[in-house]
Amino acid sequence: MPQTTTPSANGAVDGADGADASPAPAAPTCFDDVKGWFWPADQLLFDWFLTRQRDQDIRGDLLELGAYLGKSAVFLGRYLRDGEQFTVCDLWDSPAPDASNTKEMNRSYATLTRRAFETNYLAFHDELPTMVQAPTSVIASRVRSGSCRFIHVDASHLYEHVHGDVRAARQLLLPEGVVAFDDFRAEHCPGVAAAVWGAVADGGLKPVVISGSKLYGTWGDPDPVREELRGWLKTRADLWHGVEEVAGRPLIRVGGKKAVAPEPPASRHAPKRREPVAASPPAQASPSGPSWPRRVARELLPPALTRALRALRR
Ligand SMILES: C[S@@+](CC[C@H](N)C(=O)[O-])C[C@H]1O[C@@H](n2cnc3c(N)ncnc32)[C@H](O)[C@@H]1O
Repeated sequence: MPQTTTPSANGAVDGADGADASPAPAAPTCFDDVKGWFWPADQLLFDWFLTRQRDQDIRGDLLELGAYLGKSAVFLGRYLRDGEQFTVCDLWDSPAPDASNTKEMNRSYATLTRRAFETNYLAFHDELPTMVQAPTSVIASRVRSGSCRFIHVDASHLYEHVHGDVRAARQLLLPEGVVAFDDFRAEHCPGVAAAVWGAVADGGLKPVVISGSKLYGTWGDPDPVREELRGWLKTRADLWHGVEEVAGRPLIRVGGKKAVAPEPPASRHAPKRREPVAASPPAQASPSGPSWPRRVARELLPPALTRALRALRR
């Protein structure tokens, strides 16, 4: 049976502390040290959606299904505001709920531990998010319906699981909220494509933009957010974009090969930058001539001695 545990007040899962006796994982000194699959174009898009929500005072919770070692969670955690909840759901080192999910876990995330996630997250933030260490099928019972403004779906890539994650996202997302689905078109995970495009085809999910890795959509009105995004993309020289009609609506496509990632979150373990020691400026002749000791020496000493001193200095 998978472990389904209750998050405590500080976000930790009850009973998990002390269970892992392995040596403490090394704390990351920078965002690049955190392993994951979260590319610059998607960092830019997350930043754009979440900054827009802040600017328009769209409030609500954040949710990530599939956190792995915390790369995207660390990034997302920066946008959490007072009074909002950030929940992440992952199996980490718990057993998967079925054989194909177990195979997927062993193949892709064999060395994953919850402790490594915690170490990584706490290098960048003061508090852990609410951690649900369980299959994503429990998430709709752990997060309030209609409470989330941003959901990142990146857990199992198998059809049955993603299909359930799509349903949960629909239930948990605010009408003005945005959902991002990872790996919606990769050749190694056709189940994600089937589940996500299935949700588009049934008329509910409205895709707004796709990058090479993720599809971003909403169950609310996609027009305002899409048009604002188009406006922003026109200002970005590092992001190619085009628009194509899909399922009766314009869909933005973004190419991010040259994307310049936004400022990364800063680790508290980053090596301290040494302040440059203020070096005393070399003694220089003033623009108007030699310094006064030299002028005095030149006037008082016999020329032969001055020449000898100059030769010595050389
Ligand atoms: C692709 S990784 C997540 C990557 C992460 N979002 C990032 O950008 O670095 C997928 C994660 O989903 C988790 N996972 C797989 N199947 C799951 C399931 N049924 N329920 C919950 N988590 C699952 C795995 O443990 C793994 O950490």
